[in-house]
Amino acid sequence: MTTLFEPTRLGDIALANRIVMAPLTRNRAQAGNVPGPLTVEYYRQRASAGLIIAEATQISPMAQGYLDTPGIHSAEQVAGWRKVTDAVHAAGGRIVLQLWHVGRISHTSLLPGGAAPVSSTARRPNAQTYTKEGFVPVSEPRALRDDELPGIVDDYRRAARNAIDAGFDGVEVHAANNYLLDQFMRDSVNDRSGPYGGSIDNRIRLVVEVMQAVAAEIGAARTGIRLSPITTFSDTARDSNPQALYGRLVEVLAPLGLAFVHMIEGETGGPREPADLAQPFDYDALKKAFGGGWIVNNGFDRASAEAKVAAGAADAIAFGKPFIANPDLVRRLRENAPLNPLRAELMYGGGAEGYIDYPALA
Ligand code: PHB
Repeated sequence: MTTLFEPTRLGDIALANRIVMAPLTRNRAQAGNVPGPLTVEYYRQRASAGLIIAEATQISPMAQGYLDTPGIHSAEQVAGWRKVTDAVHAAGGRIVLQLWHVGRISHTSLLPGGAAPVSSTARRPNAQTYTKEGFVPVSEPRALRDDELPGIVDDYRRAARNAIDAGFDGVEVHAANNYLLDQFMRDSVNDRSGPYGGSIDNRIRLVVEVMQAVAAEIGAARTGIRLSPITTFSDTARDSNPQALYGRLVEVLAPLGLAFVHMIEGETGGPREPADLAQPFDYDALKKAFGGGWIVNNGFDRASAEAKVAAGAADAIAFGKPFIANPDLVRRLRENAPLNPLRAELMYGGGAEGYIDYPALA
C-alpha cells in the first residue's frame, strides 16, 4: 500500500514524498511585485514538502487582480524568484510556479494606465477584489478580440520561460477558480461567437493553446495544470455540463504528456460535496482519461489523504491552509503530531507575522 511518505515522480519532477504545498495568495510582494526576503524565508521553511506549488503569479501587468501579488514578467521579478528557488533547492525541496491571469477578476486601479480588466466577456461578475482601498467590487471588463489571444498565449509562454530562468522545476498553469482560462471554458461566462466561443472544443481552445505553447517552450514533463470543475468561486456559475467540459479538456491534453493535473475537488476552500450539485462529479473518470500525474486538493486531513493515496486515487495530496500554519507539515503528518492553528486574519498582506513566524516542532 502506498503511503504519503513514499517518493514519486510527476513528469520530470522527482518528489521525496506525496505531500504538496498548494498555491496560496499571501499578498506580500514588494515594490514592482517582486518577491522579497520574507518570501524567500517562507518557502525555505516549507521545503520538506514533496513539491511546493508557489503562489499564483501574474504573467503580465494585465494579468494582475489583487494588490501586492508577485509577477514573473520583469527581470526584477525573475531575480527575486531566483532567491526563492535557490533557498528551496538548498534545503532539498522542489518548487514550481503557478502562472496566473485573473481575467475579469480585477480592478482598474491595479492595471496599467487604469485599463479595464480583460475577459472572454464584457459581463461583470458580482465579485470583489482587494486593492489599496480594501475590498471593492471588480471593474467592468472588456471582451478580448480574437486577434488579441495569440498575445495572451505568448505571455504564458514567456512567463514559463522566465520561471525556468528563475530556477523553478516547472510550472502549473492556473486554469481553475474562474480566472481567465475558466472564463473562456465555462458557458456560464463565455458569450462569444467565433473560434473561441460556443462548442466545448471552441471554449477549451485558449487553454489548449496555452498548454501547447508552454509545453513546447519548457517541456511537457515539467508543465502541469490546475482545474476546479465545480467551484463557484468569485460568484461564477458552473458550466451547464462540467463533466463533459473538463472531461473533454483532459482528453485533449492527455497526448501532450504533461507532468500533472492538480484537481480541486468541490468548492475551493469549501465543501467537497456542495449541496446544490445535481449529481456528483466523477473525478476518477478524468484521472483515467488523463493517465499522467494526479494531485488532488481541498479539505484533506491526514486520514483522508492517506486513504486517497493508498487507494491509488491520487499520486499526491495538496494541502493549503495547513501549510500556512505548519512549516513542518510533512513531519507533523508523519509523526501524527498536532497542527498549529491558522491565524486567518494574517493570510493576506502584512509582513512577517502570520507568514514566517509559525513554529516548527522542537
Ligand atoms: C486569491 O487571491 O484569493 C486567490 C488566488 C488564486 C486562487 C484562489 C484565490 O486560485
